[in-house]
Amino acid sequence: MNDTLISIKNLEKTYKIEESFLSPKKDSALVLKNINLDIKKGEIVSLVGESGCGKSTLANCILKLITPEKGEIYFENQNILKLDKKETFEYRKKIQMIFQNPYSSLNPKMKIKDTLLEPLIIHKEKNKKERIDEIIELVGISKADLEKYPHEFSGGQRQRIAIARALILKPKFIVADEPVSALDVSICASIVNLLIDLRKKLNLTILFISHDLNLVRYLSDKIAVMNKGEIVEFRETQQLFDNPLDEYTKFLLSSIRTIKIG
Ligand SMILES: Nc1ncnc2c1ncn2[C@@H]1O[C@H](COP(=O)(O)OP(=O)(O)OP(=O)(O)O)[C@@H](O)[C@H]1O
Ligand SMILES: [Mg+2]
Repeated sequence: MNDTLISIKNLEKTYKIEESFLSPKKDSALVLKNINLDIKKGEIVSLVGESGCGKSTLANCILKLITPEKGEIYFENQNILKLDKKETFEYRKKIQMIFQNPYSSLNPKMKIKDTLLEPLIIHKEKNKKERIDEIIELVGISKADLEKYPHEFSGGQRQRIAIARALILKPKFIVADEPVSALDVSICASIVNLLIDLRKKLNLTILFISHDLNLVRYLSDKIAVMNKGEIVEFRETQQLFDNPLDEYTKFLLSSIRTIKIG
């Protein structure tokens, strides 16, 4: 049996740099360079690397929010870059995103119950009430909260609601782009533990994007290290920390060790 859920092959993405005072010539920048990455069902894989190295660009390619120039992305053995409109609609149900700022996925004018209901209506799902009751219990939101608006919650509670919205269509794959970096340390731990718990209960596969190496060590099965648009190392978490092979990985790890001692 093939247990690979997502397989990225030779992916390249270029951004055009617009003409401006600082760059008078039209130019382009290669932001993803020959990316190859396989994620197995049920795994939590973290993507780490400096700001601007291309992590969100890779996530956006997987989510089909942007189109790469070269390469393939297979999801359940189907190249998602070749899907038609109807197939894309179906694909969008199977894969969901959690963002750093839950406000970006929550409509401030909508009650929580409507925020959770909306995807179920769009996808013509059955048993909507049961689905909402089930999901709020899993993420730790009360029934009374359904009648409230996003601004009535703390940051951590809002992220729980955003997670509930992401999971309401029972996706197989979650891309979490810095989902806890805007939260206090104590809240951050509770959200990370919630994701670990949900992975087990719902058999989810997660791509977790983060700057925080201590956090990814705690949470991930495997880590992909990215530097300037390339994945320089992709290994099991323990192996990577015990014996980093790439110079850039060594540099990243040494920086957290220094910070810890300092
Ligand atoms: N829409 C865009 N047009 C042009 N360039 C872009 C665009 N989006 C991103 N870039 C550039 O692509 C590179 C990679 O950006 P990306 O957002 O993927 O980095 P990142 O690793 O997610 O960074 P961070 O950790 O800060 O979120 C950066 O140099 C960025 O300036
Ligand atoms: Mg980013």
